[in-house]
Amino acid sequence: DTGLITLDIGYKNTGSTISNITYLDGDKGELFYRGYPIEQLAEKSNFTEVMYLLLNGELPNKEQFNHFEREIKKQNWVSEEMRRLLEVFPRSAHPMGVLSSLTSALTAFNPKAVNIESHDDVEKASELLIARFAILCAWTYRNMNGYPLIKGNNKLNYVENFYNMMFRMPNEELEVDPVLINALDKILILHADHEQNCSASTVRMVGSARAGLFASISAGVSALWGPLHGGANQAVIEMLEQIVADGGNVQKYVDMAKSKDSSFRLMGFGHRVYRNFDPRGKIIKKVMDEVLDDLDVHDEILETALKLEEIALKDEYFIERKLYPNVDFYSGIIYRAMGIPTEMFTVLFALGRLPGWIAQWTEHRLHEDPIGRPRQVYQGAVKRDFVEMENR
Ligand code: SDX
Repeated sequence: DTGLITLDIGYKNTGSTISNITYLDGDKGELFYRGYPIEQLAEKSNFTEVMYLLLNGELPNKEQFNHFEREIKKQNWVSEEMRRLLEVFPRSAHPMGVLSSLTSALTAFNPKAVNIESHDDVEKASELLIARFAILCAWTYRNMNGYPLIKGNNKLNYVENFYNMMFRMPNEELEVDPVLINALDKILILHADHEQNCSASTVRMVGSARAGLFASISAGVSALWGPLHGGANQAVIEMLEQIVADGGNVQKYVDMAKSKDSSFRLMGFGHRVYRNFDPRGKIIKKVMDEVLDDLDVHDEILETALKLEEIALKDEYFIERKLYPNVDFYSGIIYRAMGIPTEMFTVLFALGRLPGWIAQWTEHRLHEDPIGRPRQVYQGAVKRDFVEMENR
């Protein structure tokens, strides 16, 4: 506050670019990818098709889909040097730190993907990254547990292949529950893009300096890691575990989140754009019910989450500020029920968001948008002369 005016700073309502990719209406709670409502895509499409849609602007016909899938499968491997890089990370390393490092390292082994000039260059680099990013995501989980790495299997579709690389143990076939694969496919669709969110804006900013695709995506992974952004799904479970450990007194935490004396916020609630229900939240809640029913899960974390949701939705403070559960409130509950460790939740968010980041980066690059260089409001010292050390 400068005493003159109260500044509401930060990239909050900045029109940072012109885009044809994703449309959000925060008041109506609407989300469209290339004009298609997220509800229809979640119900009728699959993640590979949605990746094609985001990257190319149109839904693929059968031949286009098969070609896209074939080109990704051709890249379903990473070099031995990348495996050796992974080995230097301790098991205790957070998988998002490992993922951003390995993603940036892809540049070292695919130098051509830095100088991207034509749409064809972008298509090749995108297909390579889409294939290899799934491997790297699965590898972060294997590294955390000291499990041997599982190679990509081209007999499987993209989501099954990822699930297989994550969970299959050597010398055994993985029993895959179609309900879980279908749930994972929908969750990845719901996370695939979200216009100029923090991590997508980061990818565009880094790309605006003409940095390469892999380096730009690596920056997006790092931005997503923050608990106010993609890290919220991990923070939701940690918050629910804390409430359960503290005797399950949900009202105490709702009151804490409302108090100005505490910096505590209800993780998984609120959104910069949605001043209504997050449309993805409504869809993912149905997916959560299906998965928990399929796995017959009834535990304190789930009960606490449902109690927290019920109390907060009736509370004046949250109603006044239009704070509703967002996509992150439910996704962590599903991942946890699937046996995925909390540190991996944001890695799954990154896997879902990858096609959106690539589409945003490509749009910026091919539109030849200018380098990002915002200005500031300066409130520092006024001009003054240097003072020699002995006179200070
Ligand atoms: C994602 O941008 C995207 O699209 C992101 C995302 C995507 O797909 O990329 O949708 C993914 O990041 C979802 C959001 C996940 N983050 C969380 O769940 C963390 C908890 N949520 C908050 O930190 C917060 O709601 C934000 C960061 C998401 C949005 O913050 P805003 O819009 O900057 O809201 P604000 O800080 O201006 O708060 C407005 C008021 C304040 O109270 P007053 O000062 O008016 O009294 O609402 C309060 C805030 O204190 N508030 C909360 C709250 N969120 C906002 N109070 C308690 N709990 C909360 N979660």
